[in-house]
Amino acid sequence: MSHFKRNLITTALPYANGPVHIGHLAGVYVPADIYVRYLRAKGEEVVFIGGSDEHGVPITIKAQKEGVTPQDIVDRYHNLIKKSFEEFGISFDIYSRTTSKTHHELSSAFFKKLYQEGKFIEKTSMQYYDEKAGQFLADRYITGKCPHCGNERAYGDQCEACGTSLSATDLINPVSAITGNTPQLKETKHWYLPLDQYENWLKEWILEGHKEWKSNVYGQCKSWLDNGLQPRAVTRDLDWGVPVPIEGAEGKVLYVWFDAPIGYISATKDLTPDWEKYWKDKDTRMIHFIGKDNIVFHCIIFPAMLKAEGSYILPDNVPANEFLNLEGDKISTSRNWAVWLHEYLEDFKGKQDVLRYVLTANAPETKDNDFTWKDFQTRNNSELVAIYGNFVNRAIVLTHKYFGGLVPERGALNDYDREVLAEIPAIIDRVEKNLENFHFREALKECMNLARLGNKYLADTEPWKLIKTDEARVKTILNICLQITADLTALSEPFMPFSAAKLRGFLNMEPLVWSKMGAEVLPAGHRINEAGLLFDKIEDEEIQRQLDRLQATKKANELANVKAAPAKENITFDTFQQLDIRAGKIIAAEKVAKTKKLMKLTVDTGIDQRTVVSGIAEYYTPEEVIGKQVSILVNLEPRNLKGIDSQGMILMAENADGSLAFVSPEKDVMPGSEIR
Ligand code: 2FM
Ligand code: ZN
Repeated sequence: MSHFKRNLITTALPYANGPVHIGHLAGVYVPADIYVRYLRAKGEEVVFIGGSDEHGVPITIKAQKEGVTPQDIVDRYHNLIKKSFEEFGISFDIYSRTTSKTHHELSSAFFKKLYQEGKFIEKTSMQYYDEKAGQFLADRYITGKCPHCGNERAYGDQCEACGTSLSATDLINPVSAITGNTPQLKETKHWYLPLDQYENWLKEWILEGHKEWKSNVYGQCKSWLDNGLQPRAVTRDLDWGVPVPIEGAEGKVLYVWFDAPIGYISATKDLTPDWEKYWKDKDTRMIHFIGKDNIVFHCIIFPAMLKAEGSYILPDNVPANEFLNLEGDKISTSRNWAVWLHEYLEDFKGKQDVLRYVLTANAPETKDNDFTWKDFQTRNNSELVAIYGNFVNRAIVLTHKYFGGLVPERGALNDYDREVLAEIPAIIDRVEKNLENFHFREALKECMNLARLGNKYLADTEPWKLIKTDEARVKTILNICLQITADLTALSEPFMPFSAAKLRGFLNMEPLVWSKMGAEVLPAGHRINEAGLLFDKIEDEEIQRQLDRLQATKKANELANVKAAPAKENITFDTFQQLDIRAGKIIAAEKVAKTKKLMKLTVDTGIDQRTVVSGIAEYYTPEEVIGKQVSILVNLEPRNLKGIDSQGMILMAENADGSLAFVSPEKDVMPGSEIR
């Protein structure tokens, strides 16, 4: 397939500051895993590299918020992420981490070499410093007013209200997130990679040399290169990361985007002592699987670093994906708008392949795409169950029914048989072509076409009608169906490895080598096992539960965004004292007929028992409120509501969404107690 001897496949190292979600899987890990499994099936030499990105400011912020160390945070999430990937069958040869000793040593040495060879420029600049905390502040640690939209809580790198990217010095009234102090500008020294010096080389290498890259990737590179490159700081004032290994750089660490991609190299080194053959031999083909927000780092900055270092190979391709949205909204960790992998596995036990399938069928390959639960259900029920599952199940069940579970002999073929058999290599060929061009959706579609072919063949030939009259014909038909089923175990393995393995179990067969597909792999007389369940129907209720959960998240987010109403004008103490508020107890309650909101309450105020009409009926039932202690304004002028005299008012707290809650004494008090 290519002139390379071996393959080095890397996947973006996720930040270990939160769990992984379907966007990660769809954008990076599933396509990479499909590709790797395909290469292995073809007998190619391949190493598959992954790991956690454990440095960077968001991790230190999270640690600070929780009052734990950054190490605690990365330990927690590294393990969670690693487990999620394992459970989804992402078949890494190693899943490493950037806090490892190997990584610290290697990235430190990498920096040092570039430093000693004069590949950096040194620059001083003014950066915000928090005197009280005694440290420079990363952009994320500074908040202030956005100069564009006036949002008071903009960050030093971006305003999340208007989306503008900012530098900390743009903020009006900057405040340190650590101490709340106003930070001061102070001089600091950093090392920069002069990307401008690599611009011509990058233009040649990418724009001339890699026209075959995906258009979204090529386009983004071209736009960066057309705009001209600037030197980039590769160090930061921070106490979490790989220390800058030179004198006079105390308190500084490598910028996370400098050390993270070197993590691919350190992981390979942790995997094998032979790591240099993967990184320094031109016969190795390196491919980075990433999401679109990582394109500049993998296509421009990291290659410039590798070029500057001089002994490493460059990526041959960077098949970046666009983003996956969820039910029409951008996936967001901070807004909890995501389907988390560990939660999916609790709700849909054993259904890893269903998610792998849906995310591939819907992969954001050329544009952003949307994941919806409805589509998830439809693809499961009408594709996996109705086509793939249905076909293999019928093939296996009929073999047991008619031939005692032994693969029947293939007799003379008719034209239709030959046509169907000829279609198999054509399908395999299209799967290969698509995979080799990183067109995973198309490849999956073709793979399903093999199941479709079998399904149609079975429906057209109707062996159940022939069994009484023409057993020889039925033998041929089922033989062909079983061969197609056997081929499916190999063809679908990269996409759905768990189901492929199950199916092999049903067929009682060893893994099928890719090149053997299309041949008569199950000999006549081979005994197959009973069919088990490959896919099962997903019911509406399960989908509704997921939709309800998202709805609840949306509501919680809306509430979190609401600002409290501004305070009213001051009143005198005397005015306040005119209000006679008492503790009372509701002793009877009924809904007011023909109204939605009103409830008629009888309240023991200690002074008397009186009737109050209250607008709580949408939030409480009469049964719920009887016996409740409440606060009641007793000297409010009586009002007539729907023909009922209402004497006084029950005090309620109104939530941002309009829902109501009683304002009750925190412990039982005598009715009539004064509230003041
Ligand atoms: O965007 C991210 O999640 C980064 N942690 C990806 C790093 S990829 C590589 F360079 F390590
Ligand atoms: Zn703004």
